[in-house]
Amino acid sequence: MDRGRRRQWGVVCSALLLSALLAVASAQSPSPARAPKPAPSLPAALRAAPRPSSPAVPAPKAPAASPAPKQTPSPSASPVPKPPTPRAPAQAPKPSSPAAPSASPVPKPPAPRAPAQAPKPPSPPSASPPPAAPPLPKPSPPPPAPSAPKPSPVAPAPAQKPSPPTTTPPPQKPSAPPSPTNSSPPTPSLALSPNFYAASCPSVELAVNDVVRSASTLDPSIPGKLLRMVFHDCFVEGCDASVLIQGSGTERTDPANLSLGGFNVIDEAKRLLEAVCPATVSCSDIIVLAARDAVTFTGGPSVPVSLGRRDSLVSLASNVRANIIDTGFSVDAMAASFASKGLSLDDLVTLSGGHTIGSAHCGTFRERFRPDANGSMVPVDGTMNAEYATELMRACAASGSAAVGCDDGSAAAFDNRYFSNLLDGRGLLRTDAVLVQNATTRARVAAFAQSQDSFFSSWAGSFARLTSLGVKTGSAGEVRRLCSSVNG
Ligand SMILES: *[C@@H]1O[C@H](CO)[C@@H](O)[C@H](O)[C@H]1NC(C)=O
Ligand SMILES: *[C@@H]1O[C@H](CO)[C@@H](O)[C@H](O)[C@H]1NC(C)=O
Ligand SMILES: *[C@@H]1O[C@H](CO)[C@@H](O)[C@H](O)[C@H]1NC(C)=O
Repeated sequence: MDRGRRRQWGVVCSALLLSALLAVASAQSPSPARAPKPAPSLPAALRAAPRPSSPAVPAPKAPAASPAPKQTPSPSASPVPKPPTPRAPAQAPKPSSPAAPSASPVPKPPAPRAPAQAPKPPSPPSASPPPAAPPLPKPSPPPPAPSAPKPSPVAPAPAQKPSPPTTTPPPQKPSAPPSPTNSSPPTPSLALSPNFYAASCPSVELAVNDVVRSASTLDPSIPGKLLRMVFHDCFVEGCDASVLIQGSGTERTDPANLSLGGFNVIDEAKRLLEAVCPATVSCSDIIVLAARDAVTFTGGPSVPVSLGRRDSLVSLASNVRANIIDTGFSVDAMAASFASKGLSLDDLVTLSGGHTIGSAHCGTFRERFRPDANGSMVPVDGTMNAEYATELMRACAASGSAAVGCDDGSAAAFDNRYFSNLLDGRGLLRTDAVLVQNATTRARVAAFAQSQDSFFSSWAGSFARLTSLGVKTGSAGEVRRLCSSVNG
């Protein structure tokens, strides 16, 4: 696997809850098909924005953890990078000339903070097993048992998370887009609104979209990482950007963080927004918008997003394990976890479809193989497509840090191929494969494999529900000035 530069930490489809559910990332398929498209320019609205140079960026005070120097928006240039080109149609991730990127207002990696998120080798987290998973699928050492023994006893257990009551909202408010196939209750975005920033920061969506597209053009692994990030954030203590906080003991220090990525994209969007609309847009809303745009960038549906989330004041690593779905989870275990959040079995299948983009390191699915009498690795699950099994073993033979596309043959495009693959025994993670072993989920998988429209339609509703989990609104929390730390 070549996958460029960041293949090492790009893993992703797995590990955590979403890990398991969300795919993510590393550059996947040979991306010739995905030639970068000239980075779009900022919308006029943004350009017109006042305070060009050193905006009134409230000096972010960097708490202990990473004393990231206050970052002013793009130093040299005004926050507004380039010409007013109308932003491309939402859907078109059409490749064009690769040259563009460099010239574009492409988000430059947040220099200062960089070190903190330096790509870390996918080395297995200390003794803790599953999530980050051990590298290569090799003879059956102690691979994570099927049902994944989690470090914390609470692991799979669903429910009771100190999550806010809003987590399991009543089926009211038809705020979410219609999701015909979904029987789940409509999204609970009680206090959220699509127009939340209409007056305070009208260009917020264009700004985030611009940053996401630029970053994704330069690094194809970004979309998968952003999609995975929203799962991770929302499943652990609600969609409150708690996943972004750095420092000892925070969520990011959980071994599951090894499969997270894309933080620099969120930081870049935040930097831009602080220049245009200081202290206005929450990091949690940026995460949601970025995930929505990541899906659109890769060809998926552009769904409406409600905004107004507030950022958390805390982030605890101890909250991660209990809320994450491990790759060893069964359908029942995943269903229980989802149910504890007020999400249905249909949501589970639909959101698992997020694995249609992104990739995962070999260690995340090693548990699906065992050595035979002669020491050769063979699939544990007899339903795994034999040809696919061979492909996986070959891809992982060279290096444990190798990454494999979560959606065989179509890991760079958000489509319904993932579901067809499941029916064909080509599910990458165990949590993907088991979806066809339960009659109910299998029926849904078959329906989505049959109709991409059905999948996309359902995605809109499930994404809305996911991004409404445990949201903090009103005077709760705060609007962080720097996403990696509380305002303090
Ligand atoms: C991820 O977790 C590991 C293990 O706890 C920790 O050493 C590392 O600093 C964490 N990474 C980030 C970016 O916090
Ligand atoms: C499928 O999984 C759901 C959720 O755990 C469970 O309620 C249902 O009984 C399962 N269906 C079958 C046929 O096993
Ligand atoms: C193991 O190797 C022997 C000798 O080559 C062969 O006959 C046998 O079929 C192999 N067993 C398996 C399970 O591949």
